[in-house]
Amino acid sequence: MTIAIRQIGPCFVGEVEGIDLCQPLSPEDVGAIHAGMDQYAVLVFHGQPISDEQQLAFTRSLGEIEHAIGTSLRAPEDYRLPTTFADVSNLDKYNKPMARDDRRRLFGIGNRLWHSDSSFKATPAKYSLLHARSIPSKGGNTEFADMRAAYDALDDETKTELEGLVCEHSQIFSRQQLGFTDFTDEERERFRPVRQVLVRTHPVTGRKSLYLASHAGAIVGWTVPEARAFLRDLIEHATQREFVHSHKWQVGDLVMWDNRQTMHRARPFPPHEPRDMRRTTLAGDGPTATQVTASAPL
Ligand SMILES: [Fe+2]
Repeated sequence: MTIAIRQIGPCFVGEVEGIDLCQPLSPEDVGAIHAGMDQYAVLVFHGQPISDEQQLAFTRSLGEIEHAIGTSLRAPEDYRLPTTFADVSNLDKYNKPMARDDRRRLFGIGNRLWHSDSSFKATPAKYSLLHARSIPSKGGNTEFADMRAAYDALDDETKTELEGLVCEHSQIFSRQQLGFTDFTDEERERFRPVRQVLVRTHPVTGRKSLYLASHAGAIVGWTVPEARAFLRDLIEHATQREFVHSHKWQVGDLVMWDNRQTMHRARPFPPHEPRDMRRTTLAGDGPTATQVTASAPL
C-alpha cells in the first residue's frame, strides 16, 4: 500500500494515510513524506501506537537526529528520556507531574509562546516529530502558523526592509517575556544568543518564509526597543488566525512540522494532569547566519 496525503484544515496541513509507523519505511515512502513536508510544512499521522524505538527508527529514516543536550533546566541526572528525545512533557523522571512552581515547569511554559524549535541553536532544527503518549482531559492543543503565507502577505516595503536582517535568539529572551529571569550563571552561559536570518528560503521549493520565534530578542544593528517592537509586530502579523491551524491531540497522534517554514505554540492544560509528549528532532543543514564567537552571555 502506498501512502496518500490529503489536505486537512488550512493549506499547509496534510494528513498522511496508508502508513504504519511501526514498520520500516520504503524509499518511496521516505520520498513521499519529504515531498509532503516541502508542500505542506505540517503532516499529521493519526493512530500510530509507536514505541520510543519505533519513533527513533522512523525519525532516522528521514535524516540525522538532533540531540537535546543542555536545552532545558533538567539536570542530566533528572532526565526522563534519553537525549535522542526532547522531553516536552510536564513529568519528572518518576513520571509524576511537576509541582506547579517547579522552575523546570515554569521554564517549559515558554513553549506556550510562538516559536520555532531550536532557533536558539547555531544550527537550528529541521523537522520536529511530536508523539502523544498521554494527553490531559482538556486543553493542550498545539497551534501552528504558516510562515510562508505570512511572508507572502507582507507588503513590498516590509519585504525589502527584512532583506539581510539577522536576529539574535536565546531562550533567555523568550523566558524574559514571561517574567522568568532567575537563571544561574551557568545557564546564562549555556543560553548565549545565536544569530539567525530573519527571512529563510526553502532549499527545495525556493519559497521564502519569516523565521521568527519568541526566542528572537534583538536585531543586529538595531536598538533593542525598536527591534523588539518590530519583531512583536511581525509575530502578530504571522499568527493571524488565517495563517494558524490548531491540532487537538489524540493518544497515538504523531505530528511532524518543518521548523524552517512554521512556528508553533502549546496551549495550557490542567497542571496536575500528565501530558506525555515525546519529541524527536531532525537536525538542520547548518547555521543560517555567521556566528559571533565572542557574544556575551545575557
Ligand atoms: Fe516547540
